[in-house]
Amino acid sequence: MAAERIDMGGYTLIENAPLGRRNTLRVAARARLLAEIRDASKLPELLDFPAVKQGPLLVLGEGSNVLFAGDFDGTVLAMATQGVQVEDDGRIVRLAVAAGERWDDFVRWTLGQGIAGLENLILIPGTVGAAPIQNIGAYGTEVAEFIDSVEAWDTHAHQVVTLDHAACAFGYRDSLFKREPGRYVVTAVRFALPRTRELRLDYAGIREELARMGVDKPAPFHVAEAIIHLRTRKLPDPAVIGNAGSFFKNPIVDATTGEALKREHPELVAWPTADGRCKLSAAWLIEAAGLKGYREGDAGISSRHALVLVNHGQATGRELWALACQVIASVEATFGVKLEPEPLVIGA
Ligand code: FAD
Ligand code: EPU
Repeated sequence: MAAERIDMGGYTLIENAPLGRRNTLRVAARARLLAEIRDASKLPELLDFPAVKQGPLLVLGEGSNVLFAGDFDGTVLAMATQGVQVEDDGRIVRLAVAAGERWDDFVRWTLGQGIAGLENLILIPGTVGAAPIQNIGAYGTEVAEFIDSVEAWDTHAHQVVTLDHAACAFGYRDSLFKREPGRYVVTAVRFALPRTRELRLDYAGIREELARMGVDKPAPFHVAEAIIHLRTRKLPDPAVIGNAGSFFKNPIVDATTGEALKREHPELVAWPTADGRCKLSAAWLIEAAGLKGYREGDAGISSRHALVLVNHGQATGRELWALACQVIASVEATFGVKLEPEPLVIGA
C-alpha cells in the first residue's frame, strides 16, 4: 500500500515511509514518519510537531553512509533544500551551500566556474550537508580544509547556530557532529575555495592515471577526470550493486603496534599519520583474512574492493550487519586489530 503523503508547504510528511530507495545499500526498512524538508526556515515548526518531538530523529541525505539493520521508530528528516550563495573577491570564492544539494553536482559546478580545490573529492555520493559529518575525504584531500563554518539547527538549544571550523573538531572520518549524533541538523555549509591552488597528486595512482591520459601539465579538471577513472575502476557503483563505499574506517594504531604488525606481516599496507601513529589499510586486513569476495546469501564483501560490503540483491540490513560483525571478529582474531564501521548503523 502506498504511504500517505501530506504536503505542508516547505515540507512533506509521509507516515510509515519506505526507505529502500533512500539508502544506497538498497536495504528495505521503514520509518515511523518521514519529513522531506525543502525550506529550512520551516524546521522549527516541523520539529515542534508532537509526533516529531517524541523522537528519535534521524537526519538523512542520500543514505550513502547508513545501514538500516532494522526499521527506524522515529522521524527521518530528509534534507532536500537547495541553493548556493556566492561571494567572490577574485582570489577566494566563498560559497554558502544548502544541505540538500548533491555533493558531486556541487564539485562539478565549482570546477566549471574555474574554482579549484574540490577536484580530488569528485564522485563521492551524498549531499553537501552530510560532507562535514564524517569530514569526507579521498585521494589525499579532506573537505574540512575548505570548510569555513557550518550552519545548523541545534536541537538542544532550539536555535540556529554557526559552528566555525575549530568548533567542528574535524578529524579522519570524524567531527563534532559524529560525536554528538542527533543534536545538529546541518542546514548549510560555508566553503572558502581558492581560485588557484597547488594540485594534490601524491595519492597512489593519480600521477600514473594522468600519464595514461597523456596529460603532463594537469589542471584541476584533469585531476578530476583521473580520479573519476580511478574510482570507477576500484569501487562498485551503487546504481548497479547496493553498497555504502568503505564499510570500515582504516584503523589507526600506535607506532609500536604498527611496527610489530609490519614485522609479522611484511606485506601489510600502512601509512604514517601526522601525529606519529600508524594507519592500517582495512582493505588489506580484510583481504588477508581471506574475506574478499566472501558471500553469505545476498550479503557480501565486494570482489573488487575488500572494504566494501555489497547487497547482491535481497540482503536484509540485519544480514549485512551480521556479515560486518563476522568481518570485525575475523580481522580481530587474525591481527588483533578491531575494525570500526564507517556508516551509521541503525537498529543493530
Ligand atoms: P547519509 O548517508 O544520508 O548520512 C550519513 C550521516 O550523516 C548520518 O549520520 C546522517 O544522520 C548524517 N547527516 C546527513 N545529512 C545531515 C545533515 N544535513 N545534518 C546532520 N546530519 C546529517 N565517503 C568518503 O568520505 N570518501 C569517499 O571516497 C567515499 N566514497 C564513497 C563511495 C560510494 C560508492 C559510496 C556509496 C559512499 C562513499 N562514501 C565516501 C560515503 C558517503 O558518500 C559520504 O559519507 C557522504 O557524505 C554521505 O552523504 P549522504 O547525504 O548520503 O549522507
Ligand atoms: N587494498 C587491498 N585490497 C583491496 C583494496 C585495496 O589490499 O581489495 C589495499 C591496496 O594496497 C591499496 C590500499 O588498500 O593500495 C588502499 O586502497 P584505496 O586506495 O582504495 O583506499 P582505501 O584506504 O581502501 C580510502 C577511503 C575511501 C577513499 C579512498 C581514496 C577510508 C575508510 N576509505 O579507502 O573512502 O575513496 O581511500 O582516497 O578511509 C569511503 O569512505 O566510503 C571511501 C570510499
